[in-house]
Amino acid sequence: MAARYFGLIPAAGKGSRFGGELPKQYQALHGRAILAYAVDALVVQTPLTRVYVLHAGDDRRCVQVTGSGYRIATMPCGGATRAESVRNGLASLRGELSDDDWVLVHDAVRPCLPKDALRRLLHEVGDDAVGGLLAIPVADTLKREDQNGRVAATEARAGLWQAQTPQMFRYGVLWEAYQSFGGLDATDEAEAVEKFGMQPKLVLGSSANFKITYPADLVIAAAILRPPEN
Ligand code: C5P
Repeated sequence: MAARYFGLIPAAGKGSRFGGELPKQYQALHGRAILAYAVDALVVQTPLTRVYVLHAGDDRRCVQVTGSGYRIATMPCGGATRAESVRNGLASLRGELSDDDWVLVHDAVRPCLPKDALRRLLHEVGDDAVGGLLAIPVADTLKREDQNGRVAATEARAGLWQAQTPQMFRYGVLWEAYQSFGGLDATDEAEAVEKFGMQPKLVLGSSANFKITYPADLVIAAAILRPPEN
């Protein structure tokens, strides 16, 4: 059977660093929620069969923003952390997905994923035994701080990459990784898989594919994304 591809978008964050009442995935860019762009990036012109959006149990906005149908489904299984949300999503899909199906986990707050980066991920991971993730080499010089807010050391940046999403693994690998020791402490899928003893493949992402974290990030994202055509 040909490989099937699914999307999983954890969208249950509260956005505490962003501030305000409205979680950042619902902030508007050109009149549309950030989450809607992240969903579109996985749904439009891709081989993904279906995208599952994971939201908090008391969140009524999610389905209004994404709609629901054959290609997009919302699931009220958000947890206290991103890892918990993803693990709950994987648990809800047991029986529906098979171990060989590919799952692309993508942050709800990365609205500017370029199509060519997504294509590169699908192509370069191919039928890899482990899976992989988009990432970009660290560009800035890295400083380690001491306890007084002063520079304790300059860290070598050679060989360091900043992880992005989507992160692409087979359902069976992800499920086992999140069941294993340390899986629920992982900050992303790749870390869960690493703790499970495997080495995910690094695939060049894009600086446009940054994560909205602070209000100023909205200005940059709005400049990257064209307003919808009338
Ligand atoms: O908070 P941060 O920006 O790192 O969140 C990354 C992604 O994880 C976001 O899409 C956010 O909605 C999601 N998340 C989640 N459940 C949580 C915390 C974060 O689905 N408890």
